[in-house]
Amino acid sequence: MRIGILGSGLMGSKLGTIFARTGHEVVFSYSRSAKKLEALAREAGRNARAGTPRDAAEDADALLLAVPWSRLDDVLDQAGKLAGKVIVSCSIPHEEDADTLLVANTSSGAEELQKKLRKAEVVSAFGTVPSEVLFGVFGARRKSRRPSLVYCSDHERAKSVAATLIRDTGFDPVDAGPLRVARYLEPFTLLVAQLAYEGTGGPKLAYRFSRFA
Ligand SMILES: NC(=O)c1ccc[n+]([C@@H]2O[C@H](COP(=O)([O-])OP(=O)(O)OC[C@H]3O[C@@H](n4cnc5c(N)ncnc54)[C@H](OP(=O)(O)O)[C@@H]3O)[C@@H](O)[C@H]2O)c1
Repeated sequence: MRIGILGSGLMGSKLGTIFARTGHEVVFSYSRSAKKLEALAREAGRNARAGTPRDAAEDADALLLAVPWSRLDDVLDQAGKLAGKVIVSCSIPHEEDADTLLVANTSSGAEELQKKLRKAEVVSAFGTVPSEVLFGVFGARRKSRRPSLVYCSDHERAKSVAATLIRDTGFDPVDAGPLRVARYLEPFTLLVAQLAYEGTGGPKLAYRFSRFA
């Protein structure tokens, strides 16, 4: 797939690198440093390049949205028309340095994003793990008992794209249902961050869901 990365920070840089290494064509965008984007693209290999959010969106099969919530409107403005695009969002609606959600209970960041982009197909994915685990899980790409990664969307095509990317990254995709399930996923993301950064195990926390018959 052609994948545009909107936000090339902790999440976007690692996921974009992994996508490029699994054979997807990747455009890194949205950083205050064009040099950083160029360096990221060089390190990610021949499938990657740097560009503007508009370059990233053009002809993209999917866009990874990985910006702090405060940058959402700006990055969407810069990306231009997103009608018909699959938007894989790991962005969580909280203020930097705060641990409360700006959108919760009766809606979620993912649903608010879908309302802003009515003609796009939003899927909430990748938010439920800390970025520090991504290279480790990708490096191991275990055959069985992979760690879980949950996603939700109202669009089957977007779900299928997310499941493919999750599998490529070394996780076991878990379909959690419609987009409104992001109301539970987003607080869960805060729980995972709490366990990862403030628990005794350090930030490298991945986990597996098991269903007991
Ligand atoms: N980090 C995690 O482990 C994690 C886990 C789950 C979910 N999330 C969510 O994923 C989203 C992204 O998180 P992150 O940790 O990857 O964020 P981050 O490291 O802060 O990266 C944000 C990206 O946005 C860019 N940016 C910020 N302000 C900008 C501005 N004024 N102009 C242009 N570019 C700007 C940054 O550019 P620079 O390159 O210039 O910094 C960077 O590329 C957030 O919503 C977060 O809640 C993060």
